Amino acid sequence: MVPLRPGDSSHDNEYNEDPEAFAKRCEEEYGSMFNIHLFGSPYTVVSEPYIREVCTSGAFSHLEAFDESSQVIEVFMTATMEFGQLIDINTPHSKWHTLALRFHHKSLYNPLRKHLQVLIDASMPVILERRRLEALASEAGVEWERPNDILQHLLDDADKYEFVDLEDVCAHILILIIISVHTTADAANSMLYYMAAFPHSMDKLFEEQQQILNDIQPINDHLDPAHDRDLPVAAVKKMVHLDSFIREMFRFRIEPLSVTVNQRALKDYIFSNGVKIPKGAKVIINTRSGHTGPEVGEDATEFRPWRFVDKPKAAVKVGPDFLPFGLGRHACPGRFMAIMEIKIIGALIVTKFFKIEMQDPSKTKMALHARLGEPIPNGLKLFIR
Ligand code: HEM
Repeated sequence: MVPLRPGDSSHDNEYNEDPEAFAKRCEEEYGSMFNIHLFGSPYTVVSEPYIREVCTSGAFSHLEAFDESSQVIEVFMTATMEFGQLIDINTPHSKWHTLALRFHHKSLYNPLRKHLQVLIDASMPVILERRRLEALASEAGVEWERPNDILQHLLDDADKYEFVDLEDVCAHILILIIISVHTTADAANSMLYYMAAFPHSMDKLFEEQQQILNDIQPINDHLDPAHDRDLPVAAVKKMVHLDSFIREMFRFRIEPLSVTVNQRALKDYIFSNGVKIPKGAKVIINTRSGHTGPEVGEDATEFRPWRFVDKPKAAVKVGPDFLPFGLGRHACPGRFMAIMEIKIIGALIVTKFFKIEMQDPSKTKMALHARLGEPIPNGLKLFIR
């Protein structure tokens, strides 16, 4: 265990003061694996070159790392419902009502019900049609080609997830929607702060997109470059500087010891260097060691927006040197959509605004390293083209 500072009962204080410096110091003093006590749990920190082993050996699970996972999900659901209740001004709001919500997720007072109902109404005819097709295929003695989507996966695994009705299935989908929107919005928000902190990037990104769009739809007297042009997906895919900017933003902003990619050992595991991890142990990946390793190139501790231009490192490509979406079998399947969304937001921002400014430049570092979902106490001013 990395020794604690006098007066500290865990490594929380030391880590929170300067996460980067703490991770770097521990790695330098204790090597690529060391034990710490962070955020209420003991963790083994695993650094390069052993990150791939954690993510791909099958001996660890990210999901299992939330040992109180049912509690976490419960709290998440309750908080989401209470939030929904707060914004629904027509719903009576009292302590008793909140308690009722907590114990009766399915009660009529649940303000998320109306969103759930939309999903139920939309999915019911789809499910009925699928059942009809499945029955027809069975009658004809051929195998029904199961749709490869989240709805079908959840229906097929209904027993495993202990769903009792369609409402359970739709509640699951609703949570997935909330989480995926939140992570994407959080990253898009970060991107604006990076554009403000590195203002010259905006000029390059605008130049790139104008060149690409001109090839598709040349400017004429009736077309205003900042406001009128279509933004085809094919054009966004060609924006390699934008892609590089976004990958670099993700690389740079990740927390050095991020619990968003922590893991739990599913069985006793012996690393290739002989270190033993017992079943049940919690592991944090030292993203700093991967994200600043030799693969990243020069000045790895600096933000270099065009670092990945002309390199086989698209923003969706995961690896030990790029972990915001995890790695291995369970790497985020939504990243293709998320990156495309963030790129479209980025492209629209540089089309419409020529400059973004931090209201308080002294808080720039804090804004660039804000943790997932953490509010950034620094407003932005956007200047229209
Ligand atoms: C910037 C946005 C996003 C970030 C940073 C992000 C990050 C992550 C991370 C770190 C994981 C865990 C990977 C692991 O277990 O090793 C994950 C899993 C997952 N993500 Fe995302 N995600 C994002 C957007 C999305 C979107 C938009 C969707 C859906 C449309 C999505 C769906 C999922 C699903 C279904 C899993 C579970 C995969 C599995 O366990 O096999 N994510 N994501």
